[in-house]
Amino acid sequence: MAEVTFRIQRFDPEQDEAPRYQDYTFDVPDGYTVLDSLNHIKSYIDDSLSYRFSCRSSICGSCGMRVNGHAKLTCMTQVVDVLRPDGTITVEPQGNQKLQRDLMVDTAMFWEKMRKVDPWLEPDETRETPDKEHLQDPNVFSTFVEESTCIMCGNCVSDCTSMEHDENFLGPAALAKAWRFVADDRDGKQRERLASLVEEGGIWDCVRCNECVEVCPKTVAPMDAIVKLRAKALEYGLGDSIGGRHVTVFTDSVTRAGVLDEKELPVKALGPGNLLQLLGSMPLALNGMVKGKISPFPHRPIPGAEDLQRIRQEIEQEEASP
Ligand code: FES
Repeated sequence: MAEVTFRIQRFDPEQDEAPRYQDYTFDVPDGYTVLDSLNHIKSYIDDSLSYRFSCRSSICGSCGMRVNGHAKLTCMTQVVDVLRPDGTITVEPQGNQKLQRDLMVDTAMFWEKMRKVDPWLEPDETRETPDKEHLQDPNVFSTFVEESTCIMCGNCVSDCTSMEHDENFLGPAALAKAWRFVADDRDGKQRERLASLVEEGGIWDCVRCNECVEVCPKTVAPMDAIVKLRAKALEYGLGDSIGGRHVTVFTDSVTRAGVLDEKELPVKALGPGNLLQLLGSMPLALNGMVKGKISPFPHRPIPGAEDLQRIRQEIEQEEASP
């Protein structure tokens, strides 16, 4: 048993103009989770505290909150694992969603984005209709088994750095769900799904910070799903977007010379259709040249660049072989 102070974010939309913090201190028994502690506060100290939970077994996904600044399932977070040296633990609602009350957020945006990726099977009409159900090939299932373990807790959405700056971004949960259907060979809308995912707000808007992988309480690893969607989109010839061109130009530049030509990358990735954006990046480019980060001279191959060309050739041959 240890004395712990829980610093909890409170917000009553009818009384508070902004969220505030309230401290609750009590002796926490060994083995308590953060959710057990919230239940203790609600039962014995302050019954006005609002938060969500249901299964208490990391299955339903309803108890996601920020603990010491990072999204966690509170029912599977042991107090002892998050207790700071000064004896405090901060509990706040998930981020990137509209605050409802205390530790609860409005999940409407989460479900709206999920619906945008059509999270259901669109049967491939060209396949023979089976007499009974359309069984999944275990080998194909293994390509999206991790994404299938998502419990929709919203932790990845809470801590997504891209969503923090871009409300149009579909976000890690919806994109992981999108991969689950793109990878399913019983689905007949793979190209259509990918074509919509390369649009603005889709797969190229992830900045690959890895935070969604860190906070996912299961094994979904949404960022990995986004990377797989990007590769699949390029495979389908859907690379004519800023993100798609960025990958192609980057790879070609490094293969050709052994190092990246930072002058060429924005020009070719943005393309003539984004002239204003390109002009806007000029001060940054000039600053890079002044500071010696970008060479103003022609881009020449480094010694050994031909080894990279050979490696890429071998990889492409291997990928093309049946
Ligand atoms: Fe269900 Fe935590 S209460 S996942």
